[in-house]
Amino acid sequence: MISKFTIDQVYETARLEEVIGDFVQLKKSGSNFKGLSPFTDERTPSFMVSPVKQIWKDFSSGKGGNVVAFLMEHEHFTYPEAIKYLARKYNIEIEETERTDEQKAQADERESMYLVSEYAKEYFKNTLWEKEMGKAIGLTYFRERGFTDEIIKKFGLGYSLDQWDAFTNSALEEGYQLEFLQKTGLTIVKEDNNNPGVSKKFDRFKGRVMFPIHSMSGRVLGFGGRILSNEKKAAKYLNSPESEIYHKSKVLYGIYYAKQAIAREDNCYLVEGYTDVIQLYQRGIHNVVSSSGTALTSEQIRLINRLTKNITVLFDGDAAGLRASLRGIDLILEQGMNVKVCTFPEGEDPDSFARKNELEEITLYLKENAKDFIQFKTSLLAEDAANDPIKKADTIREIVNSISKIPDRIKREIYIQECAHIMNISEDVLFNTLAQIGRKEQTDAATIARQQQKAFEVVKHSQREEKLDVQYELEKKIIEMLLLYGNELQEFEDLILKENESGDLVLEPENMEAKVYEKVYLDLQEDEIELTHDKFRNIYYKLIEGLNEKEDFSISAFMTELDQEMVSQISSILMEEEKYELHHWERKDIYPKDKEKSISQLVSETILTLRCFLIKKRITSLQENTEDSNDDHQETLEEIMNYLQLNKLLNKKLNRVLS
Ligand code: CTP
Ligand code: MN
Repeated sequence: MISKFTIDQVYETARLEEVIGDFVQLKKSGSNFKGLSPFTDERTPSFMVSPVKQIWKDFSSGKGGNVVAFLMEHEHFTYPEAIKYLARKYNIEIEETERTDEQKAQADERESMYLVSEYAKEYFKNTLWEKEMGKAIGLTYFRERGFTDEIIKKFGLGYSLDQWDAFTNSALEEGYQLEFLQKTGLTIVKEDNNNPGVSKKFDRFKGRVMFPIHSMSGRVLGFGGRILSNEKKAAKYLNSPESEIYHKSKVLYGIYYAKQAIAREDNCYLVEGYTDVIQLYQRGIHNVVSSSGTALTSEQIRLINRLTKNITVLFDGDAAGLRASLRGIDLILEQGMNVKVCTFPEGEDPDSFARKNELEEITLYLKENAKDFIQFKTSLLAEDAANDPIKKADTIREIVNSISKIPDRIKREIYIQECAHIMNISEDVLFNTLAQIGRKEQTDAATIARQQQKAFEVVKHSQREEKLDVQYELEKKIIEMLLLYGNELQEFEDLILKENESGDLVLEPENMEAKVYEKVYLDLQEDEIELTHDKFRNIYYKLIEGLNEKEDFSISAFMTELDQEMVSQISSILMEEEKYELHHWERKDIYPKDKEKSISQLVSETILTLRCFLIKKRITSLQENTEDSNDDHQETLEEIMNYLQLNKLLNKKLNRVLS
C-alpha cells in the first residue's frame, strides 16, 4: 500500500495541466486550457482543463475527473500505477505502509525480477544493434522479415548470442543476483554431469531473436525467443516460464503499444503470433494484440474488455485449427463483448498478408471479411452438417451453446432469429434448446458481465441525465455551490416574523453571517429535505462532513478520498459551466452568467427555489389524494393550507433575493 502521506503529497504537487500536457496539446483559454479530446477523433477542441479546480472534462466523450482519473483513462493505469507515475514525474519518494515483512520481501522479489528483466531487454537490444553477431544474424533476420529499424526499436526487439552464458555472465557482472536470473527463467542452472556437486549456468535464450513481453503499463514481464535455424527438434519459439511476474494467462503481447488505439478505435484485433502484431502495427493497424499461440483465457479477455467491447479475431489461413479455436471464443461472448472473426486466404497469416499489402488493402480486406462470430460459426457448421441430420442436431446445440453465453437477452434473441434463418429451422426449436442449456449458466455469465460493466463504468460515467429535470438541476446546483464556495463566509438575509410598533406581525429582514455550507445544511434541515438523486445525496453528506471537519477544506484534497466514480461526477458538475465557455460565441446570448450574482444571492435563491419546488410537489400530491378518496379531508386540507402559506412566505423571500 502506498501511504496516505505519499498520496497527499502527490496530489499537492502534481499540476494537472502539466501532466495532461504530456499527452495533449493544450492552449490557454481564459482561465482554463483547452485541446482536442484524446479520447475521440475531433477537429474542434472540446477537452477542457481547469488549473484552478484541478479537474478536466472531455465534452465529446463525457469523461472527466482529476489528475489520477486522467491517467487511468488515458494510460489505462490502475490507481496505484497512476500514483506511482506521478510520484516519479515529480520526484516524490514513495512511502509504503501496512505491509508485513513477508509481503515486503515478496514485493522486493518481484521488483528485483522486474529489474533484471528490464536489464535483459536492454542487453538483448544492445546486442542486436551494437554487436557484430547481433547485427549480422539478429538484425539481418528482422530486416529480412520486412521489419523497419524504427519498428524493431519500438518493440524493443533483441538478440541473444549463440553462446552458453554470455548474457548470464554480463548480468552477474553488473551485480544482478543469480536468484532472480533463475526465477525469471533467463538463466538455467544445472548440475554439471562431469563434476557432481558443481552447477553450471546457461542462457535460456541462447542464439535466438528476442521479443520482450510488456505489461499493460509497459514493464517487461518476460520474453519470447525465436530460433533462426530450421532445426526440427528445437521449438520455434521458447518463452519465459511462469513466474512471480510472468503469468502467461494474464498477458497479451502488444497490449502496451495497442491500448490507446484499442480504446480510440473501439475495437481490438486479436492475432496468434508476435510477428502478426508487429507486422500489422508497422502497416498502421495499431489496435492489435496476440495471445501468443495459446488458447485465449478469461483474464486476457478482461484486459481487452477494459478498453473496448469489440474484438475481431484474425485467424491464420490454415483451416485445421479454425474449428478448434471457435470454442475459445465463447469466453469472449461470456464477457458481454461483441466478437467478429476474419480468416485469411489459405496459407496466409496476418503477418504475411500485412507484408504483401498496403494499409488501404488490409483495411478493406478486414472490413469486407470480418464476420459476426455467431453468423460465421452458424454458416460454417451448417455447411459441415448440410446432409447429415444427426450432425445437424449437434451443430444446433453447439451454436445455441455459444448464444447462451451472451449475457444480453435481446442480443440472444436476435441471434436465435438469425440462426434459425441461416440453418433453415424454426425459432422455437432454437429457443427450446436455449432454455434447456440451463438458466444457471446464463445468469452466471450475466452476473459477471454486469459486475464488470459496473467496474468499468466507474470513470467513464458521463452526463447521461440530460433531460431537464428541475429537481435534478437544483440538487446539482447545491452540490456545485458547496464545492465552489462551501467554506466562504457570507452575509445572508433572512425574513423573520416580528411584531411591529402597532402590534402586527410582519416579516422583517435580518442579516446573519454564516458559511455557505452551514446555510445550506441548516436550511435544508429545516424542511427535512433530502436530495433525491443517490449520487448527489452521497456527495452531499460527504461534503458537509468534510467541510464541517476541516477549516482549510480543499476540493482536490477532498477528492483524493473519494472513489473514482464520485470524483468523475464531481468534475462533471464543476466543469459544466465551462462547457459554455468553450463555445461562448454561440452561447453568450442564451446563458446569462450566474457569476454576476453574489454568492449569497445564488445560495439563497437555489435553496428557496428547491424548497418551493418541493412544497408545490407536496401540495399537488395532497390534492390528488383528496380527489381520490371520500374520507374526511379536513386534516389534509389543513395541511395543504399550511403548505400554501409556507409557499407564499418562501416566494416572498425568493422575490427579495431575485430583485
Ligand atoms: N508459439 C510458441 N511456441 C512455439 C510456437 C508458437 O510460443 N513453439 C507462439 C508464439 O507466440 C507465436 C505464436 O504461437 O508467435 C504463433 O505461432 P506461429 O504462427 O507458428 O508463429 P508466428 O508468429 O507465425 O512466427 P513466425 O512467423 O516467425 O513463424
Ligand atoms: Mn504465424
